[in-house]
Amino acid sequence: CCPAQVGPSVLDCDMAQLANEGKRALQAGASYLHLDVMDGHFVPNISFGPYVIECLRKHIPDVFFDCHMMTSEPEKWVEKVAKAQGSKPGLLCYTFHYEATEPRGKTQEVIDLIKQHNMKVGLTVSPDTPVEALLKYADQIDLALVMTVYPGKGGQSFIEEMMSKVETLRKAYPDLDIEVDGGVKPTTVDMAAKAGANLIVSGSGVYKAEDMSHNISIMQRSVEK
Ligand code: DX5
Ligand code: ZN
Repeated sequence: CCPAQVGPSVLDCDMAQLANEGKRALQAGASYLHLDVMDGHFVPNISFGPYVIECLRKHIPDVFFDCHMMTSEPEKWVEKVAKAQGSKPGLLCYTFHYEATEPRGKTQEVIDLIKQHNMKVGLTVSPDTPVEALLKYADQIDLALVMTVYPGKGGQSFIEEMMSKVETLRKAYPDLDIEVDGGVKPTTVDMAAKAGANLIVSGSGVYKAEDMSHNISIMQRSVEK
């Protein structure tokens, strides 16, 4: 199937040192970066927006960015985030929430818009949304993200019950990139890996770790098994 990788969420790093903090995690063995955009509307918090991603790209030119768009109107930021795509195709995934588009009947439109901008398409569901939402669009997306916490902030506890979504997806789509996000750390990663996730997001498990490379390598080994 698809490569097994660990992507730190930079939400919990010293944000004033974003480029250095991103590089530090990559040097410690991480494979890609998970960038959490929050608009203060879809979720209560505000983190950073497309321009910060564009700036970060200049410092980290050839690493895969998974942009997790916790925004009410994901269609609004497609063009701006696309500017951070980088030189090679496939280096950036625009991952948006089903809950933000489906009630307005816009999920298909946003998928098409992202493709028009040559980005990979990621679709994600919050814990209360059934896996059918991802199954419905799985043929058209590059990445399915199963949220293992309610989106909004780092440092929450992993919701184990979400593993049945991962199992269902993996069974139906052996080659799909399946990512988990929220509360993943060395103590919980095995559940996600066993269920079939191949992309592991970890925020506090990386940036609040005593030994960052130790934690990354434990998670990497778990997901490679
Ligand atoms: C939650 C974000 C996650 C989160 C990860 O809203 O999407 O990426 O910050 O952080 P941890 O691993 O600490 O839950
Ligand atoms: Zn995230």
